[in-house]
Amino acid sequence: MIYGGILAGGKGTRMGRTEMPKQFLNLGNRPMIIHTIEQFLISNKIDKVIVATNENWRSYTEDIINKYYPENDKIVIINGGTTRNETIANICDFAEKNSPGEENVVVTHDAVRPFITQRIINDNIDAILEEGIDAVDTVMPAFDTIVEAKEGEIISNIPIRDYMYQGQTPQTFRTNEFIENYNSLTEDEKGILSDAIKIYVLKNKKAKIVRGETFNMKVTTMYDLKLANAIVNMQGEDKND
Ligand code: CTP
Repeated sequence: MIYGGILAGGKGTRMGRTEMPKQFLNLGNRPMIIHTIEQFLISNKIDKVIVATNENWRSYTEDIINKYYPENDKIVIINGGTTRNETIANICDFAEKNSPGEENVVVTHDAVRPFITQRIINDNIDAILEEGIDAVDTVMPAFDTIVEAKEGEIISNIPIRDYMYQGQTPQTFRTNEFIENYNSLTEDEKGILSDAIKIYVLKNKKAKIVRGETFNMKVTTMYDLKLANAIVNMQGEDKND
């Protein structure tokens, strides 16, 4: 089966004080998470959408999803974990229990990247189904020069920009392989490896890149939220043209 995995287990601390985690704040007139879920729901390549939410916001998540998609059996809500990778592991565990013994693929995506497109979802699925590919990452070429300063003060390296990309989501893999790779990490490694694909790189697995979009932005700060609202307003104006 092919699953969509919506990562909504975070607290959104970098947004500053908001009445709820950023994934539930409105973009235009709908919660951000609804914009994101919508794209996975309308994809005819995705069989089921697993929304992994912050435990304290579980019933709130159920309420808004029921409001927008009453009795939709393509969506299931589960608890996220304390780290982003743990949230992904919970999604993979659910998928493995839901369709045991099948080849299960999950397209994991940040709830706070509401401008995901069908093209990006399809490219992720096509790439993971290619021979010999273990994982797929969505990236954009780095437009700015990347400057490395290991101690935070003096520049230690300036990598060649042509080889540099900026990571977005979705990130896609087979659920049984993610669980296997994740469980093989030590607790220290789990603490450091904040990026799911980095686990694959560390284990010498083949992770392929597919192209994202500049507008497939992550809402991290209040400034991003304003920008995302401006994009939604612009899309609304386009539709009315
Ligand atoms: N996420 C998750 N489970 C966690 C932590 C994060 O599912 N334990 C999700 C977030 O909900 C978000 C995505 O991962 O959709 C990207 O993470 P980030 O932007 O870092 O979100 P937060 O952790 O919520 O933000 P912050 O770091 O500012 O607290």
